Amino acid sequence: TSAALADGFGRVATDLRVSLTDRCNLRCSYCMPAEGLDWLPNDDVLTDDEVVRLITIAVERLGVREVRFTGGEPLLRRGLPDIIRRTAALSPRPDTSITTNALGLTRTARALAEAGLDRVNVSLDTVREEDFKTITRRDRFADVVAGLAAAAEAGLGPVKVNAVLLRGINDDQAPELLQWCMDRDYELRFIEQMPLDAQHGWSREAMVTADEIFDSLGSAFVLEPAEEPRGSAPAELFTVDGGPHTVGVIASVTRPFCGDCDRVRLTADGQVRNCLFAREESDLRGALRGGADDAEIARRWQAAMLTKRPGHGIDDVTFLQPSRPMSAIGG
Ligand code: GTP
Ligand code: 5AD
Ligand code: SF4
Repeated sequence: TSAALADGFGRVATDLRVSLTDRCNLRCSYCMPAEGLDWLPNDDVLTDDEVVRLITIAVERLGVREVRFTGGEPLLRRGLPDIIRRTAALSPRPDTSITTNALGLTRTARALAEAGLDRVNVSLDTVREEDFKTITRRDRFADVVAGLAAAAEAGLGPVKVNAVLLRGINDDQAPELLQWCMDRDYELRFIEQMPLDAQHGWSREAMVTADEIFDSLGSAFVLEPAEEPRGSAPAELFTVDGGPHTVGVIASVTRPFCGDCDRVRLTADGQVRNCLFAREESDLRGALRGGADDAEIARRWQAAMLTKRPGHGIDDVTFLQPSRPMSAIGG
């Protein structure tokens, strides 16, 4: 329809990922340097009202059906419960979720569920306390474990866990992570590392591939492709030892799924990114603060989709890593 976020390749974005802050309280070595980054100035970050206005336009005028809040770390955003409450009150009610490191979830999981949050995905790359400290540069493993339990307890499930394997650090821990997640009924997905780190240190050799992950899991479990249709989900699902548990692999690099992409992103400073790897952004904050009405903002958002490229282009000789790192896009 004319009121959709359609691109030039027949794809329609119905899944909006909203970054609420570029800050994080962990310092994962594959994501950002120990000292952190130059965070966005407060005045550049959208207010709660501005975020909700853009989400409302996306849902009411542009066909968005799912809203995922990301960061940095979205739990650091004070207004999160209120933003969720107002998002869940929209019509038609979108599916709501967050992608989080789970720090602080013990305190907020219940309130978030009551505000209308449907699900959480939690980032956790190891279940060994010492390795957690090495990877995240923070001694918070127990807090993440407690946060995960609080999420499940509050009904924010099925709880999914996202893990990135790093060569020489946790690349031998795939079976251990999977067993740990299955024991707690969390749905584990392994993610291939993408060239989106702030340090621009990604290399193909250091990336642990989907094939390697399968080999490693295959030494401990029997994996079979799951029946349920994948649709536009980044994760390919496999049943473990005949089920009912599954494990997912998000093979963005070696098995790209861009042809089925249904996503669009909004950064904390109000820029539309039509792809994780987009080279340009469209400034909705400027339109908003310049007094544009909803119809005008919707038109600009639709126009922003037209430069979406068919794929991420990581394999092209001309590939350029986007200047904004993962932590400021939201994954
Ligand atoms: P579900 O609806 O729960 O399946 O969410 P999800 O897996 O789409 O969201 P989540 O934020 O948990 O994403 C997990 C990881 O998938 C991200 O950290 C990214 O690494 C990767 N990912 C998510 N969206 C995209 C995308 O559009 N393109 C690529 N290449 N990777 C993506
Ligand atoms: N490639 C793939 N996934 C990444 N994440 C962070 N950086 C990268 C990267 N370069 C993951 C985090 C978290 C999610 C938000 O994105 O581990 O699970
Ligand atoms: Fe979509 Fe870009 Fe991700 Fe590909 S890399 S799936 S086009 S957001």
